Amino acid sequence: MLEVEICHMKMRNPTVLAAGVLGSTSSSLNWAARSGAGAVVTKSFALESNKGYPNPTTVEVEGGIINAIGLSNPGVEAFKGELEKLEGNVPHIASIYGSTPEDFASLASQVEDLVDALELNVSCPHAMEGCGAAIGQDPDLTSNIVGAVKKSVKIPVIVKLTPNVTDIVEIARAAESAGADALTLINSLGPGMRIDPETAHPVLSNRFGGMSGPAIKPVALRCVYQTYQNVKIPIMGVGGITNYQDVVEFLYAGASCVQIGTAVMYHGLEVFQNINTGLEKFMRDKNYQTVEEMVGMAHQM
Ligand SMILES: Cc1cc2nc3c(=O)[nH]c(=O)nc-3n(C[C@H](O)[C@H](O)[C@H](O)COP(=O)(O)O)c2cc1C
Repeated sequence: MLEVEICHMKMRNPTVLAAGVLGSTSSSLNWAARSGAGAVVTKSFALESNKGYPNPTTVEVEGGIINAIGLSNPGVEAFKGELEKLEGNVPHIASIYGSTPEDFASLASQVEDLVDALELNVSCPHAMEGCGAAIGQDPDLTSNIVGAVKKSVKIPVIVKLTPNVTDIVEIARAAESAGADALTLINSLGPGMRIDPETAHPVLSNRFGGMSGPAIKPVALRCVYQTYQNVKIPIMGVGGITNYQDVVEFLYAGASCVQIGTAVMYHGLEVFQNINTGLEKFMRDKNYQTVEEMVGMAHQM
């Protein structure tokens, strides 16, 4: 009943571990799969290792957290060792980032044989050296990167977009025209910040970071809703999802499946099982036979 298929990847349910949350090692990704996630996305990695920002890199705010981890990762060579140890009967998606089309294309071909799909992170609001949202705010650069990756690999290419743009539809269309197989909406919102009232200093070492958690859900939902009306490729919805009711909202807005990040930090990996149990009961009560039937329902007005 909960099965979905996205870019020819069969998933036993529509919940996916979002990039960056517990996705740095094969053991944590395997654990998420064993805990009920329908698919898993790795932490974003690049060609070279990156230490990221010094602590503090996360801070709590009303309705969520702000993080400025700075895309810390051990680089593709080390990450390949983790990808080789992935287990479980769920699709594995590698999240990659870089600053040029050549970086992305090289990364993509280096890991193509180890995963089922790629997610291009062109959208991190606190990335260093021109690797992040600066790309995903530029339709031409987004298009060049997607085009370069599509030429280099045969596996599905999913593009993760930033909400921090004037018109998300413009970027979504650019990704679709360049050959993207699916979109992930949205990366963290912002940047935002917190200041310590005692010391008068910004709390995060990078001062600014991306917001995630329930506070960003309305923005994520609007991005999915608007994009669904303007593209044909499937959408993975992400941003503030904590319970099955949130999932229902994203499906109705037009997402074909959802990703979950911050809720895993607050509620543990049980969140996948809890959401799937709630969703299945909801579907029985409402007489839905498949998840697909629910996708885009909010547009039938
Ligand atoms: C601690 C943390 C680290 C993250 N790291 C990444 C990352 O490496 N790559 C990426 O594309 N998104 C990253 N994200 C963004 C999430 O994948 C997700 O898009 C965002 O947090 C919104 O979803 P949520 O409210 O369910 O957390 C990170 C988020 C958090 C909270």
